[in-house]
Amino acid sequence: MAQLWGGRFTKETEQAVYDFNASILFDRRLIHQDIAGSIAHCTMLCKQGILTEQERDSIIEGLKGIEKDTESGILAITSAYEDIHSFVEANLIDRIGDTGKKLHTGRSRNDQVALDMRLYVKEQVLATDTLLKELLETLLHLMEEHLDTYMPGFTHLQKAQPTSLSHHLGAYFEMFRRDRERLQDLCRRMDYSPLGAGAFAGTTYPLDREYTASLLGFSGATLNSMDSVSDRDYVIEYLGALSLIMMHLSRFSEEMILWNSNEYRFVEIDDAYSTGSSIMPQKKNPDIAELVRGKTGRVYGALMSMLTTMKGIPLAYNKDMQEDKEMTFDAIDTVNSCIPLFNGMLRTTSFRKDVMEKSAMKGFTNATDAADYLVLKGVPFRDAHGIIGRLVLYCLSKEKSIDELSLEELKTFDPHFEEDVFDAISLETCVEKRLTKGAPGRKAMEEEIRVSRAYLEQ
Ligand code: ARG
Repeated sequence: MAQLWGGRFTKETEQAVYDFNASILFDRRLIHQDIAGSIAHCTMLCKQGILTEQERDSIIEGLKGIEKDTESGILAITSAYEDIHSFVEANLIDRIGDTGKKLHTGRSRNDQVALDMRLYVKEQVLATDTLLKELLETLLHLMEEHLDTYMPGFTHLQKAQPTSLSHHLGAYFEMFRRDRERLQDLCRRMDYSPLGAGAFAGTTYPLDREYTASLLGFSGATLNSMDSVSDRDYVIEYLGALSLIMMHLSRFSEEMILWNSNEYRFVEIDDAYSTGSSIMPQKKNPDIAELVRGKTGRVYGALMSMLTTMKGIPLAYNKDMQEDKEMTFDAIDTVNSCIPLFNGMLRTTSFRKDVMEKSAMKGFTNATDAADYLVLKGVPFRDAHGIIGRLVLYCLSKEKSIDELSLEELKTFDPHFEEDVFDAISLETCVEKRLTKGAPGRKAMEEEIRVSRAYLEQ
């Protein structure tokens, strides 16, 4: 057991207590952040005349050695240490002797861990953002490719109106674009260094907090030192953003699963992204999409856990806050692996234009357009709605679609029907005439793609 404290204790810690209290098994992933923070801290201590240049250089060399040796595996991060901060400090003292004992001057593990977590989260937020950008590139390519791949649009999972695959995928583009904005927004808000807040009340040493903040690439130092060590809002905001990303990925997965089913056959997920069954030889299952959908739950769980952990904590640091790590790390790993996997699956999926188009022709997706046709001929919309409703009922009994009826049959429902109705309710017309901003018609979609392309290139 290597602990940073013990002076005021008369007994050894109970092993079970030590294990329960320790965080090394999960905060070991913060080693780079911990070392970067320590280098910045001691650089600042020297600038302020609190350490000599020789002491600073010796500490920095020692810290870099620890980092190098843990990377190469010469030095193992083991559960003999309480946490990553103890591990680094104890090893520093082993390496460079008494000078190592000066590193923690004007610092507490409270501001140290707050810093490590911020640095780590900031790095991961940027990684998630990059992964989302790659997914958006894939979506945009598909949108460009499928401007005239017609398909049914659904409401209530019932065929509603025809649209294009480009338009459908464009909806996901918007979701993931908003997800990126959320990440960038929280990144701006969290971009302040808590280092120098000490245990919670700052310190009597003349620390230059803005200087350490700038050394670590932050846009500044946090203000209130009590808040600095107690704030985990950025973790919650990130988990919130990750939850929304998973919600979007999960909806998309659900559609991929449906579309890949024997009933829809809109898509075929590539063999490389599918799995088989141990008993049914014919099976090719969309497990990746199902797992992405399934893993959404654990990311929501991390968000709920963190909100609940923080809700009853009095100021300032309390050990409850150590619980900010495991589930957050798990959520980050989950999302940052789901996005590229989903992206790979999407990139390699074949979209069956013919099946989608055939499906769009069935299910009366042109009923709204047939009503709109009558409106153009002077029939009030509500009456037109009733007429087409009765027409649909008739079609159902004949097992035909509206466009398969003869003009004579149509005229028995309303005398306004003319020969031009067939063009007006054709699949192509139904899609291409929808030209309002954000609608599926080619011209409108081309504009949507132009705006989306400009966004990705900015
Ligand atoms: N392992 C702790 C954590 O993750 C580090 C901070 C410990 N601070 C303290 N006062 N015990 O929160």
